[in-house]
Amino acid sequence: MAQVDQSSGGRPVRRGAADQGVNAPGRAQIAARTLRGDRWWLTPLVTFVCFTAWLLYGLVRASTQKDYFVADYGYLTPFASPCLSTSCVPGSAHFGTPFGDWPPLIPFAVLTLPFLLLFRLTCYYYRKAYYRSFWLSPPACAVAEPHRAYSGETRFPLIVQNLHRYFFYAAVIVSLINTYDVLHAFRGKNGSFGLGLGTLILLANVVLLWCYTLGCHSCRNIVGGRLNHFSRHPLRYKAWGWVSALNARHMTFAWVTLGSLVVTDAYIALVAAGAFGDLRIIN
Ligand code: FES
Repeated sequence: MAQVDQSSGGRPVRRGAADQGVNAPGRAQIAARTLRGDRWWLTPLVTFVCFTAWLLYGLVRASTQKDYFVADYGYLTPFASPCLSTSCVPGSAHFGTPFGDWPPLIPFAVLTLPFLLLFRLTCYYYRKAYYRSFWLSPPACAVAEPHRAYSGETRFPLIVQNLHRYFFYAAVIVSLINTYDVLHAFRGKNGSFGLGLGTLILLANVVLLWCYTLGCHSCRNIVGGRLNHFSRHPLRYKAWGWVSALNARHMTFAWVTLGSLVVTDAYIALVAAGAFGDLRIIN
């Protein structure tokens, strides 16, 4: 039944399911989907393509379990870390083999990847990115979304986004594991100290991963939240300042780490497969 809504300027508006979302009372009643004349669709499109490509790459690499370790130099790709089974390539089980034989169809990284994926999927930046590019909710500022109703993150499944702070702790543990893997990459052919291009790539990747992880909004809250006086907590204030500096570049690190993970994995895969040798700097 049509009713007069004062917030719509006195025009009759129809109540019902179609009156939710962008058609809700109080919203400007504009027939066009958007009045924007720029290429507002480009960013969500690029985001969609890049995320899809990354997920496909990660899925293939994590599931094929091939060429993930360069034994001569101790290079282990993050996509297969930690390797905790006797099925791992000799030398790649940096934390021992507590799991014995590993079922061939299950990726080694099944122990860590779900937590990392959940950490990224619930990340404040990624939420914005995939809400816009995959769910079109909305696809861009001032562009009406196609959905009729909007419940936000108040119901299942999106209420799970509130667990992000707990996935943060899991991500810290995985970053520590990746850091330990890098220490193994300072190995030369005879087992003594060595340094190669692969070492530098692994090192750069783990530094970027830390920049992304520590720039997390939850980390910022853990470090500097629940304080009434920063002046009484100078160390936490200092740490909060560093975390805030990373946090301001969180979107950048979110993208850069997707790239650095692929570069690191691809380099190790190509060296392990014998496509070319590692560029050695020392030993
Ligand atoms: Fe992005 Fe926590 S907000 S990782």
